[in-house]
Amino acid sequence: MASSVANTTSSKRRRLLLLAAAVALTILAPPVSARRRPVRLVVYVQEVLDGPGQTEKLLVRGPGPANPSLWPPHNLFGDTVVMDDLVTEGLANDSAPVGRVYGTYMTASMTRPVHSVSFTLLLTTGPYSGSTLVMAGIDDEDMPATEHAVVGGTGALRGAQGYVLGNVTALSPTYVVMRLEVHASVPYVLVPTTKAKAAASLASQ
Ligand SMILES: *[C@@H]1O[C@H](CO)[C@@H](O)[C@H](O)[C@H]1NC(C)=O
Ligand SMILES: *[C@@H]1O[C@H](CO)[C@@H](O)[C@H](O)[C@H]1NC(C)=O
Repeated sequence: MASSVANTTSSKRRRLLLLAAAVALTILAPPVSARRRPVRLVVYVQEVLDGPGQTEKLLVRGPGPANPSLWPPHNLFGDTVVMDDLVTEGLANDSAPVGRVYGTYMTASMTRPVHSVSFTLLLTTGPYSGSTLVMAGIDDEDMPATEHAVVGGTGALRGAQGYVLGNVTALSPTYVVMRLEVHASVPYVLVPTTKAKAAASLASQ
């Protein structure tokens, strides 16, 4: 009986100590925002919709119905376009190439001009050369600007989070340039620190 009371007391004390340690770690740890590094990029996506040098093609003809807010030939619900677009530093297509955009967009509304978009920006120059940013969301043509979520990244952009703003300049009916403004951040440290390991082992007890 006495020994069981002593055990309970010591296990209570142990739990209190663990709690105190966890609180101390929480207070001492810098805020999450301080442990992330901002990533700001402005790039231009050259979209050739038809003709010579075409970079986007209809992949799947949707089952319909025809969406009254869109023009043929890409106006059926479910129409899906695949893209392999050159990405440049400036608006002009002969400005420095900085990467490519690969992905798809699909007519996702039966009545409104809304596309579901999923694309990956591969950077081929600069500090993020060989790294990618993965983006997804919707394009609603009735909205003044598009905003997609940065849902992740690879290489030097692992663990990326944030958003990307887009606006489009139409140079001709079959040539448009989309300006992408990336507002993201990546974790400072990719390998667990001693403190993070201690916190993880504490949490698993
Ligand atoms: C580059 O853009 C111009 C219009 O600004 C266009 O005439 C030309 O065909 C484009 N070049 C390529 C390779 O797409
Ligand atoms: C896109 O946004 C940039 C930055 O706000 C602006 O300078 C540019 O004029 C915009 N382009 C269009 C076509 O709205």
